[in-house]
Amino acid sequence: MDYFQNFKDRLATKEQEQNKRSIKFYEPIDAVRVKCENREFIMMASNNYLGLTHDIRVQQAAIQAVQHYGSGSGGARLTSGSFPLFNELETAISDFKHTEQALIFNTGYMANVGTITALMNKHSVIISDELNHASIIDGCRLSGAQIERYKHKDVEHAEYILKNYKSAHKMIITDGVFSMDGDIAPLDRLYELSKDYNALLMVDDAHATGVIGNGRGTAHHFGLTDVDVQLGTLSKALGSVGGYVAGRKELIEYLINYSRSFIFSTALSPADIGAALEALRIIHDDSSVVDTLRKNTVYMAHKLQAMGIDCDDETPIFPIVVGENDRALTLARELKERGIIITAIRPPTVPVGESRLRMTVTAAHSKEQVDYVAKTLHELLVDMNIH
Ligand SMILES: Cc1ncc(COP(=O)(O)O)c(C=O)c1O
Repeated sequence: MDYFQNFKDRLATKEQEQNKRSIKFYEPIDAVRVKCENREFIMMASNNYLGLTHDIRVQQAAIQAVQHYGSGSGGARLTSGSFPLFNELETAISDFKHTEQALIFNTGYMANVGTITALMNKHSVIISDELNHASIIDGCRLSGAQIERYKHKDVEHAEYILKNYKSAHKMIITDGVFSMDGDIAPLDRLYELSKDYNALLMVDDAHATGVIGNGRGTAHHFGLTDVDVQLGTLSKALGSVGGYVAGRKELIEYLINYSRSFIFSTALSPADIGAALEALRIIHDDSSVVDTLRKNTVYMAHKLQAMGIDCDDETPIFPIVVGENDRALTLARELKERGIIITAIRPPTVPVGESRLRMTVTAAHSKEQVDYVAKTLHELLVDMNIH
Protein backbone atom coordinates (compact mmCIF):
# COMPACT_ATOMS: atom_id res chain seq x y z
CA MET A 1 0.00 0.00 0.00
CA ASP A 2 1.25 3.48 -0.88
CA TYR A 3 0.28 5.25 2.34
CA PHE A 4 1.11 8.72 1.10
CA GLN A 5 -0.87 8.26 -2.12
CA ASN A 6 -3.76 7.21 0.10
CA PHE A 7 -3.41 10.43 2.13
CA LYS A 8 -3.42 12.43 -1.12
CA ASP A 9 -6.52 10.61 -2.41
CA ARG A 10 -8.41 11.21 0.78
CA LEU A 11 -7.47 14.89 0.81
CA ALA A 12 -8.58 15.15 -2.84
CA THR A 13 -11.97 13.77 -1.79
CA LYS A 14 -12.22 16.45 0.90
CA GLU A 15 -11.31 19.08 -1.70
CA GLN A 16 -14.03 17.80 -4.06
CA GLU A 17 -16.58 17.95 -1.25
CA GLN A 18 -15.48 21.53 -0.50
CA ASN A 19 -14.66 20.28 2.94
CA LYS A 20 -10.86 20.56 3.07
CA ARG A 21 -9.46 22.50 6.02
CA SER A 22 -6.36 24.65 6.06
CA ILE A 23 -4.79 26.77 8.77
CA LYS A 24 -5.15 30.56 8.48
CA PHE A 25 -2.80 32.87 10.35
CA TYR A 26 -4.20 35.98 11.97
CA GLU A 27 -2.16 38.52 13.85
CA PRO A 28 -4.25 39.99 16.68
CA ILE A 29 -4.28 43.80 16.94
CA ASP A 30 -6.59 43.76 19.95
CA ALA A 31 -9.34 41.42 21.21
CA VAL A 32 -11.56 41.98 18.14
CA ARG A 33 -9.31 43.15 15.28
CA VAL A 34 -6.76 41.05 13.41
CA LYS A 35 -4.29 41.57 10.59
CA CYS A 36 -3.96 39.13 7.74
CA GLU A 37 -2.34 39.54 4.30
CA ASN A 38 -1.59 43.19 5.17
CA ARG A 39 -5.25 44.01 5.76
CA GLU A 40 -7.21 44.63 8.94
CA PHE A 41 -10.34 42.63 9.79
CA ILE A 42 -13.04 42.57 12.46
CA MET A 43 -12.91 39.16 14.12
CA MET A 44 -16.43 37.73 14.54
CA ALA A 45 -15.46 34.08 14.99
CA SER A 46 -13.55 33.91 18.23
CA ASN A 47 -14.55 32.43 21.60
CA ASN A 48 -12.76 35.20 23.44
CA TYR A 49 -16.22 36.25 24.67
CA LEU A 50 -15.07 38.78 27.27
CA GLY A 51 -12.09 40.09 25.32
CA LEU A 52 -9.87 39.20 28.28
CA THR A 53 -6.93 38.03 26.14
CA HIS A 54 -6.11 41.72 25.72
CA ASP A 55 -6.95 42.96 29.20
CA ILE A 56 -3.75 44.48 30.57
CA ARG A 57 -4.39 42.94 34.03
CA VAL A 58 -4.61 39.44 32.55
CA GLN A 59 -1.51 39.98 30.44
CA GLN A 60 0.45 41.30 33.44
CA ALA A 61 -0.63 38.32 35.54
CA ALA A 62 0.71 35.95 32.87
CA ILE A 63 4.02 37.82 32.73
CA GLN A 64 4.37 37.88 36.51
CA ALA A 65 3.62 34.16 36.74
CA VAL A 66 6.39 33.42 34.22
CA GLN A 67 8.82 35.68 36.08
CA HIS A 68 7.98 34.00 39.37
CA TYR A 69 7.61 30.36 38.35
CA GLY A 70 9.40 30.05 34.98
CA SER A 71 8.19 29.43 31.45
CA GLY A 72 7.09 25.82 31.80
CA SER A 73 5.88 23.48 34.54
CA GLY A 74 8.48 20.79 33.89
CA GLY A 75 6.34 17.85 34.94
CA ALA A 76 2.92 16.28 35.34
CA ARG A 77 0.65 17.44 38.15
CA LEU A 78 1.34 14.29 40.18
CA THR A 79 5.11 14.50 39.80
CA SER A 80 6.78 17.93 39.88
CA GLY A 81 4.43 20.22 37.88
CA SER A 82 2.00 21.49 40.55
CA PHE A 83 3.18 24.99 41.47
CA PRO A 84 1.08 26.91 44.05
CA LEU A 85 -0.89 28.90 41.45
CA PHE A 86 -2.69 25.67 40.55
CA ASN A 87 -4.06 25.47 44.05
CA GLU A 88 -5.16 29.11 43.92
CA LEU A 89 -6.90 28.63 40.57
CA GLU A 90 -8.62 25.39 41.60
CA THR A 91 -9.87 27.05 44.77
CA ALA A 92 -11.03 30.12 42.81
CA ILE A 93 -12.95 27.92 40.34
CA SER A 94 -14.69 25.92 43.07
CA ASP A 95 -15.59 29.14 44.93
CA PHE A 96 -16.91 30.68 41.73
CA LYS A 97 -18.94 27.59 40.86
CA HIS A 98 -20.01 26.96 44.48
CA THR A 99 -18.68 23.41 44.40
CA GLU A 100 -16.46 21.62 46.91
CA GLN A 101 -13.40 21.29 44.68
CA ALA A 102 -12.06 21.70 41.17
CA LEU A 103 -9.31 20.19 39.05
CA ILE A 104 -7.41 21.72 36.13
CA PHE A 105 -6.80 19.75 32.95
CA ASN A 106 -4.61 20.87 30.03
CA THR A 107 -7.51 21.58 27.68
CA GLY A 108 -11.28 21.31 27.66
CA TYR A 109 -10.85 18.47 25.18
CA MET A 110 -8.62 16.57 27.61
CA ALA A 111 -11.01 17.31 30.48
CA ASN A 112 -13.88 15.70 28.57
CA VAL A 113 -11.92 12.68 27.39
CA GLY A 114 -10.22 12.17 30.76
CA THR A 115 -13.38 12.59 32.83
CA ILE A 116 -15.77 10.50 30.76
CA THR A 117 -13.28 7.63 30.40
CA ALA A 118 -12.60 7.69 34.16
CA LEU A 119 -16.28 7.68 35.14
CA MET A 120 -17.74 5.33 32.53
CA ASN A 121 -16.72 1.87 31.32
CA LYS A 122 -17.95 -0.99 29.20
CA HIS A 123 -20.70 -1.78 31.71
CA SER A 124 -22.07 1.78 31.58
CA VAL A 125 -24.62 3.59 29.45
CA ILE A 126 -24.12 7.21 28.39
CA ILE A 127 -27.17 9.26 27.45
CA SER A 128 -25.80 12.06 25.28
CA ASP A 129 -27.39 14.98 23.39
CA GLU A 130 -26.96 14.41 19.64
CA LEU A 131 -25.31 17.83 19.22
CA ASN A 132 -22.73 17.45 21.98
CA HIS A 133 -19.18 18.60 21.25
CA ALA A 134 -16.67 16.29 19.53
CA SER A 135 -14.57 16.00 22.71
CA ILE A 136 -17.59 14.58 24.56
CA ILE A 137 -18.22 12.17 21.71
CA ASP A 138 -14.57 11.07 21.73
CA GLY A 139 -14.62 10.58 25.52
CA CYS A 140 -17.80 8.49 25.22
CA ARG A 141 -16.30 6.32 22.48
CA LEU A 142 -13.03 5.82 24.31
CA SER A 143 -14.79 4.83 27.53
CA GLY A 144 -16.22 1.72 25.86
CA ALA A 145 -19.67 2.50 27.31
CA GLN A 146 -22.86 1.99 25.37
CA ILE A 147 -23.75 5.37 23.84
CA GLU A 148 -27.39 6.37 23.49
CA ARG A 149 -27.94 9.69 21.74
CA TYR A 150 -31.12 11.61 22.42
CA LYS A 151 -32.63 14.16 20.05
CA HIS A 152 -31.29 17.64 20.61
CA LYS A 153 -32.59 19.02 23.96
CA ASP A 154 -35.42 16.45 23.88
CA VAL A 155 -35.84 15.52 27.56
CA GLU A 156 -38.77 13.17 26.81
CA HIS A 157 -36.55 11.24 24.41
CA ALA A 158 -33.77 11.08 27.02
CA GLU A 159 -36.31 9.70 29.51
CA TYR A 160 -37.60 7.17 27.00
CA ILE A 161 -34.03 5.87 26.69
CA LEU A 162 -33.43 5.91 30.46
CA LYS A 163 -36.50 3.74 31.08
CA ASN A 164 -34.72 0.89 29.30
CA TYR A 165 -31.67 1.11 31.57
CA LYS A 166 -33.21 1.42 35.02
CA SER A 167 -30.60 -0.65 36.81
CA ALA A 168 -27.53 0.33 34.81
CA HIS A 169 -24.52 2.48 35.75
CA LYS A 170 -25.25 5.59 33.71
CA MET A 171 -24.55 9.25 33.00
CA ILE A 172 -26.45 11.97 31.15
CA ILE A 173 -24.12 14.39 29.32
CA THR A 174 -24.91 17.69 27.68
CA ASP A 175 -23.20 20.82 26.43
CA GLY A 176 -24.45 23.72 28.62
CA VAL A 177 -24.41 26.19 25.71
CA PHE A 178 -24.21 24.31 22.41
CA SER A 179 -21.04 25.31 20.63
CA MET A 180 -22.35 25.51 17.06
CA ASP A 181 -25.97 26.54 17.77
CA GLY A 182 -25.65 28.82 20.78
CA ASP A 183 -28.77 27.48 22.49
CA ILE A 184 -28.94 26.50 26.17
CA ALA A 185 -29.49 22.90 27.36
CA PRO A 186 -32.58 22.22 29.51
CA LEU A 187 -30.31 21.42 32.46
CA ASP A 188 -33.10 21.88 35.05
CA ARG A 189 -35.16 19.12 33.47
CA LEU A 190 -32.14 16.89 32.86
CA TYR A 191 -31.26 17.36 36.53
CA GLU A 192 -34.69 16.03 37.57
CA LEU A 193 -34.26 13.14 35.18
CA SER A 194 -30.85 12.29 36.62
CA LYS A 195 -32.38 12.13 40.09
CA ASP A 196 -35.44 10.11 38.97
CA TYR A 197 -33.28 7.52 37.21
CA ASN A 198 -30.23 7.57 39.49
CA ALA A 199 -27.87 8.72 36.72
CA LEU A 200 -24.84 10.97 37.04
CA LEU A 201 -25.30 14.33 35.32
CA MET A 202 -22.46 16.06 33.49
CA VAL A 203 -22.56 19.51 31.85
CA ASP A 204 -19.88 20.96 29.58
CA ASP A 205 -19.76 24.70 30.24
CA ALA A 206 -17.08 25.54 27.65
CA HIS A 207 -19.32 28.23 26.14
CA ALA A 208 -21.30 28.99 29.31
CA THR A 209 -18.53 29.97 31.73
CA GLY A 210 -18.14 33.75 31.71
CA VAL A 211 -21.29 33.96 29.60
CA ILE A 212 -24.51 32.81 31.34
CA GLY A 213 -25.56 32.48 34.98
CA ASN A 214 -23.69 35.69 35.87
CA GLY A 215 -20.66 34.11 34.25
CA ARG A 216 -20.90 31.10 36.56
CA GLY A 217 -22.33 28.78 33.94
CA THR A 218 -25.37 26.68 33.19
CA ALA A 219 -26.05 25.26 36.64
CA HIS A 220 -26.23 28.82 38.04
CA HIS A 221 -28.36 29.94 35.12
CA PHE A 222 -30.97 27.43 36.33
CA GLY A 223 -30.35 27.96 40.05
CA LEU A 224 -28.94 24.45 40.49
CA THR A 225 -26.29 23.90 43.12
CA ASP A 226 -25.29 20.26 42.90
CA VAL A 227 -24.86 19.17 39.29
CA ASP A 228 -22.50 16.18 39.60
CA VAL A 229 -19.87 17.09 37.02
CA GLN A 230 -19.43 20.71 35.89
CA LEU A 231 -16.76 20.82 33.24
CA GLY A 232 -15.42 23.80 31.35
CA THR A 233 -12.50 25.43 29.67
CA LEU A 234 -10.13 28.26 30.49
CA SER A 235 -9.61 28.78 26.76
CA LYS A 236 -12.66 30.77 25.79
CA ALA A 237 -14.17 33.52 28.00
CA LEU A 238 -11.26 33.22 30.45
CA GLY A 239 -8.77 34.22 27.77
CA SER A 240 -6.17 31.55 28.52
CA VAL A 241 -5.89 27.83 27.79
CA GLY A 242 -6.84 24.76 29.83
CA GLY A 243 -9.85 22.84 31.09
CA TYR A 244 -11.42 22.16 34.46
CA VAL A 245 -13.87 19.94 36.30
CA ALA A 246 -15.73 21.20 39.38
CA GLY A 247 -17.80 19.08 41.74
CA ARG A 248 -17.73 17.13 45.00
CA LYS A 249 -14.42 16.29 46.63
CA GLU A 250 -14.89 12.54 46.05
CA LEU A 251 -15.24 13.21 42.32
CA ILE A 252 -12.08 15.30 42.18
CA GLU A 253 -10.04 12.81 44.18
CA TYR A 254 -11.33 10.04 41.95
CA LEU A 255 -10.28 11.94 38.80
CA ILE A 256 -6.82 12.63 40.25
CA ASN A 257 -6.42 8.88 40.57
CA TYR A 258 -8.23 7.56 37.50
CA SER A 259 -8.19 10.20 34.77
CA ARG A 260 -5.45 9.31 32.31
CA SER A 261 -5.40 12.66 30.47
CA PHE A 262 -4.83 14.33 33.86
CA ILE A 263 -2.21 11.88 35.08
CA PHE A 264 -0.11 11.36 31.95
CA SER A 265 0.49 14.85 30.62
CA THR A 266 2.78 17.71 31.63
CA ALA A 267 0.96 20.40 33.61
CA LEU A 268 0.03 23.74 32.03
CA SER A 269 2.53 26.57 32.12
CA PRO A 270 2.58 29.39 34.73
CA ALA A 271 1.47 31.91 32.07
CA ASP A 272 -1.71 29.91 31.38
CA ILE A 273 -2.61 29.55 35.04
CA GLY A 274 -1.69 33.14 35.98
CA ALA A 275 -3.83 34.54 33.15
CA ALA A 276 -6.85 32.33 33.95
CA LEU A 277 -6.66 33.17 37.65
CA GLU A 278 -6.69 36.90 36.94
CA ALA A 279 -9.52 36.55 34.40
CA LEU A 280 -11.59 34.70 36.97
CA ARG A 281 -10.81 37.33 39.61
CA ILE A 282 -12.00 40.07 37.23
CA ILE A 283 -15.34 38.34 36.57
CA HIS A 284 -15.79 37.39 40.21
CA ASP A 285 -15.10 40.85 41.66
CA ASP A 286 -17.02 42.86 39.10
CA SER A 287 -19.60 41.43 36.72
CA SER A 288 -19.55 44.50 34.43
CA VAL A 289 -17.64 42.74 31.64
CA VAL A 290 -20.19 39.89 31.69
CA ASP A 291 -22.98 42.50 31.59
CA THR A 292 -21.35 44.20 28.59
CA LEU A 293 -21.24 40.87 26.77
CA ARG A 294 -24.94 40.43 27.47
CA LYS A 295 -25.72 43.95 26.21
CA ASN A 296 -23.72 43.41 23.02
CA THR A 297 -25.43 40.05 22.45
CA VAL A 298 -28.90 41.57 22.79
CA TYR A 299 -27.88 44.52 20.60
CA MET A 300 -26.62 42.22 17.81
CA ALA A 301 -29.73 40.00 18.06
CA HIS A 302 -32.08 42.97 17.80
CA LYS A 303 -30.16 44.40 14.85
CA LEU A 304 -30.36 41.09 12.98
CA GLN A 305 -34.01 40.54 13.88
CA ALA A 306 -34.90 44.05 12.66
CA MET A 307 -33.39 43.07 9.30
CA GLY A 308 -35.49 39.92 9.17
CA ILE A 309 -32.70 37.51 10.13
CA ASP A 310 -34.02 34.79 12.38
CA CYS A 311 -31.96 34.53 15.60
CA ASP A 312 -32.09 34.31 19.39
CA ASP A 313 -30.45 36.55 21.98
CA GLU A 314 -29.77 33.77 24.53
CA THR A 315 -26.00 33.64 24.00
CA PRO A 316 -23.29 35.39 21.94
CA ILE A 317 -23.18 32.53 19.40
CA PHE A 318 -25.19 33.30 16.25
CA PRO A 319 -25.44 30.40 13.79
CA ILE A 320 -26.30 31.45 10.24
CA VAL A 321 -27.27 28.16 8.68
CA VAL A 322 -26.98 28.22 4.87
CA GLY A 323 -27.07 24.49 3.98
CA GLU A 324 -24.40 23.39 1.54
CA ASN A 325 -20.64 23.81 2.00
CA ASP A 326 -20.15 26.02 -1.07
CA ARG A 327 -22.74 28.53 0.16
CA ALA A 328 -21.04 28.76 3.56
CA LEU A 329 -17.62 29.19 1.94
CA THR A 330 -18.89 31.82 -0.51
CA LEU A 331 -20.54 33.81 2.26
CA ALA A 332 -17.38 33.64 4.42
CA ARG A 333 -15.27 34.76 1.43
CA GLU A 334 -17.57 37.69 0.63
CA LEU A 335 -17.55 38.80 4.27
CA LYS A 336 -13.76 38.65 4.29
CA GLU A 337 -13.69 40.86 1.17
CA ARG A 338 -15.61 43.38 3.27
CA GLY A 339 -13.26 43.16 6.23
CA ILE A 340 -15.09 40.65 8.44
CA ILE A 341 -13.89 37.21 9.57
CA ILE A 342 -16.61 34.65 10.26
CA THR A 343 -15.56 31.04 9.79
CA ALA A 344 -17.57 28.63 7.64
CA ILE A 345 -18.43 25.58 9.72
CA ARG A 346 -18.89 22.34 7.80
CA PRO A 347 -19.37 18.60 8.53
CA PRO A 348 -18.38 16.76 10.62
CA THR A 349 -18.50 19.74 13.01
CA VAL A 350 -22.17 20.17 12.06
CA PRO A 351 -24.57 17.70 10.36
CA VAL A 352 -24.43 17.32 6.56
CA GLY A 353 -26.65 19.93 4.88
CA GLU A 354 -26.42 22.29 7.86
CA SER A 355 -23.20 24.11 7.01
CA ARG A 356 -23.17 27.55 8.50
CA LEU A 357 -21.36 30.64 9.54
CA ARG A 358 -20.85 30.71 13.25
CA MET A 359 -20.75 34.33 14.28
CA THR A 360 -19.82 35.38 17.80
CA VAL A 361 -20.09 38.73 19.46
CA THR A 362 -17.88 39.68 22.40
CA ALA A 363 -17.82 42.26 25.18
CA ALA A 364 -14.99 43.99 23.32
CA HIS A 365 -16.89 44.74 20.10
CA SER A 366 -18.01 48.35 19.68
CA LYS A 367 -21.52 49.39 18.67
CA GLU A 368 -20.10 50.62 15.34
CA GLN A 369 -18.49 47.25 14.65
CA VAL A 370 -21.73 45.40 15.43
CA ASP A 371 -23.70 47.83 13.21
CA TYR A 372 -21.29 47.34 10.32
CA VAL A 373 -21.26 43.54 10.63
CA ALA A 374 -25.07 43.25 10.87
CA LYS A 375 -25.61 45.55 7.87
CA THR A 376 -22.99 43.80 5.73
CA LEU A 377 -24.28 40.37 6.62
CA HIS A 378 -27.83 41.38 5.78
CA GLU A 379 -26.80 42.78 2.36
CA LEU A 380 -24.93 39.59 1.50
CA LEU A 381 -27.75 37.31 2.62
CA VAL A 382 -30.17 39.26 0.41
CA ASP A 383 -27.72 39.15 -2.55
CA MET A 384 -27.26 35.41 -2.13
CA ASN A 385 -30.98 34.86 -1.62
CA ILE A 386 -30.49 33.29 1.80
CA HIS A 387 -33.14 33.72 4.55
C1 LIG B 1 -18.49 22.35 24.14
C2 LIG B 1 -17.00 22.27 24.08
N1 LIG B 1 -16.36 21.46 24.94
C3 LIG B 1 -15.03 21.36 24.94
C4 LIG B 1 -14.26 22.09 24.08
C5 LIG B 1 -12.78 21.92 24.10
O1 LIG B 1 -12.19 22.91 24.87
P1 LIG B 1 -10.67 23.32 24.60
O2 LIG B 1 -10.67 24.18 23.37
O3 LIG B 1 -10.24 24.01 25.82
O4 LIG B 1 -9.93 22.05 24.35
C6 LIG B 1 -14.89 22.97 23.18
C7 LIG B 1 -14.13 23.86 22.27
O5 LIG B 1 -13.41 23.65 21.47
C8 LIG B 1 -16.28 23.05 23.18
O6 LIG B 1 -16.91 23.83 22.29
